[in-house]
Amino acid sequence: MPDQPSVTARYDSDLGLALLHTPGSLYAVRIGADGSPRHVHWGPPLDPAALAALPDRVSPARSSFESDAAADELGIQTGDRFGPAGLQVRFADGTVGAQWHFEDARQHTDADGTVELRLLLADRRYPLGAVLGYRVRPGSDVVERWVELSHTGDRDADADPITVDRLDSASWTLPRLPDYRISHLVGGWNSEFQLQRDRLPVAETTLTSRRGLTSHHAHPWLALDDGTATEESGQVWSTALAWSGSWRITVHRDAVGRATWTGGFGHEGLRWSLAPGETLTTPVFTGLWTDGGFGGASRAWHAYVRAHVLPAPAQDRPVLYNSWEATGFAVDLDGQLRLAGLAAGLGVELFVLDDGWFGGRRDATAGLGDWTPYPGAFPGGLRPLADEVHRLGMEFGLWVEPEMVNRDSDLFRAHPDWVVHSPTRDATELRDQLMLDLARPEVEAWALRTLDGLVRDNAVDWLKWDANRPFTEAGRPGHPDPDRLWVDHTRAVHRIMDRLRADHPGLRIEACAGGGGRVDLAVLARTDQAWTSDNTDPVDRIGIQHGFSQLYPAQAMAAWVTDSPNGATVRTTPLRFRFHVAMAGALGLGGDLTHWSEAELKEAAELVARYKEIRPVVQRGRAHRLSGQGGVTAVHHAAEDGAEHVLLAWRPTTRFGHEAAPLPLPALDASATYRDDAGREHAGAVLVHHGIELELPRGDYASTLIRLRRVDAAAGARPLEES
Ligand code: DGJ
Repeated sequence: MPDQPSVTARYDSDLGLALLHTPGSLYAVRIGADGSPRHVHWGPPLDPAALAALPDRVSPARSSFESDAAADELGIQTGDRFGPAGLQVRFADGTVGAQWHFEDARQHTDADGTVELRLLLADRRYPLGAVLGYRVRPGSDVVERWVELSHTGDRDADADPITVDRLDSASWTLPRLPDYRISHLVGGWNSEFQLQRDRLPVAETTLTSRRGLTSHHAHPWLALDDGTATEESGQVWSTALAWSGSWRITVHRDAVGRATWTGGFGHEGLRWSLAPGETLTTPVFTGLWTDGGFGGASRAWHAYVRAHVLPAPAQDRPVLYNSWEATGFAVDLDGQLRLAGLAAGLGVELFVLDDGWFGGRRDATAGLGDWTPYPGAFPGGLRPLADEVHRLGMEFGLWVEPEMVNRDSDLFRAHPDWVVHSPTRDATELRDQLMLDLARPEVEAWALRTLDGLVRDNAVDWLKWDANRPFTEAGRPGHPDPDRLWVDHTRAVHRIMDRLRADHPGLRIEACAGGGGRVDLAVLARTDQAWTSDNTDPVDRIGIQHGFSQLYPAQAMAAWVTDSPNGATVRTTPLRFRFHVAMAGALGLGGDLTHWSEAELKEAAELVARYKEIRPVVQRGRAHRLSGQGGVTAVHHAAEDGAEHVLLAWRPTTRFGHEAAPLPLPALDASATYRDDAGREHAGAVLVHHGIELELPRGDYASTLIRLRRVDAAAGARPLEES
């Protein structure tokens, strides 16, 4: 990676400020008179001395009913604080809430220039300590925050445990703005990542998952602005929690115009018991300020995810084939070999065997947990298929769902106690399955052993790790700290993925939970891409991909071309349109190739080849979301050096008299000249201000792919945009 602009984080005791300088922003914290870290600034760089000289904010509405102090970096339950508290603790004598004494600040710089600042706090009377952690990384404006909460009591003296009712990773604060707007992602199975943008109500707004998974329904990302930001301009503050289980974020806009939010793992009602000598560390909550609008925010997030989250960002995501939509559970050696042969002929690079290959699995009711090949379908095991797939020049991928079990399985018969359950409650089965309690060390060890054996014995290059149900009736009767399950299960999933990658350096993992039910920064730190949604209808996908792209880059967004009419929506669309939508992500194929005509197979092979040409720009470039007249939306992918550009534009429905107008490409260099694949030259200024002619075919489901290369050498040294 080229040298990245450096970052700093330090506590300036003269100014009384903790200061985090990133290439484009400053984050500042002051220790308040009561010892609690208070928010000072999150925005453009400012002179720290000038910041220090600013008086504490005084609310015009101050009274004996209202605090006028600056907002907390982590809200506590004591003092004149009445908003949602990020830290909620109870001591054995019934006392509620912490009161801090600021102890110290510690700074550490890694060899790669990453800087960590830790603010050390101790309760004034009880054996409770906290570290508020801050980390900044070279080249990025993202601030990483977390909390380490410690019971500092004496283990040997038998000190009482401390009950933790809430432990957020961070609380965030906006400057006072004339108004506030919230952008977040909502949805459900088959409709993940729908962007929702509303005026922020004067209220407490909670975004949460109570499912033990990140969830299809809400996403631990949000963006706030004053209501005027656009795709390319305006201040945007956004945060994303790196956690793959239940979570909760509460945004509080008060009546006198202050907006804060606090978030972390676990939903309401969970409580943890902190034993003497123990430390509970939260997941990281990341925050980004930008004045580049929603598009600028997304590009900064994408750069951060590529540089600091994804394990193998420089590798091209392979074009994959997966027969799930084509065959369902009816997989067998002959059928998969036939599909593999056809897929290889199309230029596919990775062949993934999905659900149905193991145990007694012929439908959803049986077999989960029994991870040995079903002899009726794979009499010689999986090796003959894996070997043939490799011989055809493709990698071999395998679907697994290691956290789950069917009652009708040898695993459940042998270990009925391994499931997440409360014995005095009826266990709800979803998709005929129960969830295994990976928080139990023996279950975690079994899962790791099983997956390790599968990868080793079958030359598996890629695991698709699925999870098709949330927690219900979660319990651990008799356990001293039963709700730890919600944290420990998720941490076990992360640990197993990390271990597998460490032991099999070539192995790649795809995150999946019935589509996009477990996509987050923590899962992407140990996987290569996420299965975005089980909904592969290209029209629905345009919206899903739009939402996904707010935070995550195209290389992490698996997108398949499947059959038409689509299984989810019954909509019929042309192959080219399906491809053009999927080509904006990590392209895959998921149709029944045995039913594709010669003409369709030929067109598909051409489009796969075309995708490989544009793949580096799509997967590693900067993405600019565009919308034009006539119902057109598009993504302009620009190579980092500005030399190559790919435009994918879609118009699902047409209206007479409302033809698509030329689409302006504001991210291009107006002083440059660009050449398209037909050899036509375009003046940059025309493309920037007037737009490019899309030349869409007539009718519904029209789409186009335009590639432009910059031809003038003089502009070669100029970056497309400063970031
Ligand atoms: C849900 C996934 O999202 C699908 O792609 C497929 O793998 C099925 N599970 C298999 O059961």
